[in-house]
Amino acid sequence: LLLIGIFALAAYLIGAIPTALWVGKAYFGIDIREHGSGNSGATNTFRVLGKKPGSIVMLVDIFKGWVATSLAAFLIILHAIPVEYLVPVQLAFGFIAVLGHVFPVYAGFRGGKGVATLLGMVLAIHPEAALVCLGIFVIVLLTTKYVSLGSMLAAMVFPLLMLLPWFRPEHSAKLLTGFGIVVFILIVVTHRKNIRRLMQGNESKANIRF
Ligand code: G3P
Repeated sequence: LLLIGIFALAAYLIGAIPTALWVGKAYFGIDIREHGSGNSGATNTFRVLGKKPGSIVMLVDIFKGWVATSLAAFLIILHAIPVEYLVPVQLAFGFIAVLGHVFPVYAGFRGGKGVATLLGMVLAIHPEAALVCLGIFVIVLLTTKYVSLGSMLAAMVFPLLMLLPWFRPEHSAKLLTGFGIVVFILIVVTHRKNIRRLMQGNESKANIRF
C-alpha cells in the first residue's frame, strides 16, 4: 500500500510540472498566465509564444499524462497489485496527473485545463478511443477554429464511445464510462471562462493557415 501511495504521489508530481509556465519563464521571461487567455497550457503557448514552444509544451504535457498512467504497469511488474487492477489503477494515476496539471504545487496551484495531459492518459489506457477523440478535436478545430470547443467535444465523445461495442473494453467498461463522465465534467469546469466567451461570441479563434 505504501508503494501505491508513493506512485500516486509521483503521478501527481509528474502531472503538476507546469510546462507552459516554465517554458515561458525560462526562454521568454514571461508568466504565461498574464498573457493571452491567461491559461498555463499548450494552446496559450501557441497563441502567445509561437509554434515551437507551443509544440514542446503540448508534447511534454501529453507525455506527462502517459508516463503517470503507465506507472500502474510497474506496480504489476513489481507484483504490488494483481493484473485485473491495471485499468482502475491506470485511471486513478492518470486522473491524479490531470488534477496535478490543473492544480500544480510548483505554481501556486494555478495550472492549465488538463486537455493535453488527459490525452496522454487516454492514449495509455485506450489508444483507439484516444485517436477518435483526437480526430473529433481536429475536425472541430479546423471547422470552427475554437480549440476550447474541440477539447470539450472530444471529452464528451469519450464516454459515448465506451457505450459502443467496437470500443467497449472487455474489462472495466463501466468504470471507464463513469470515469469519462467525471472527466467531461472536469473539462467543462476548467473551460467555464471559454464557455462564457463562446456564448458571448468573443472566444479567440486559432490562427490556422493552410
Ligand atoms: O487546452 C486548453 C484549451 O482547450 C483552451 O485553452 O488558452 O484557449 O483557454 P485557452
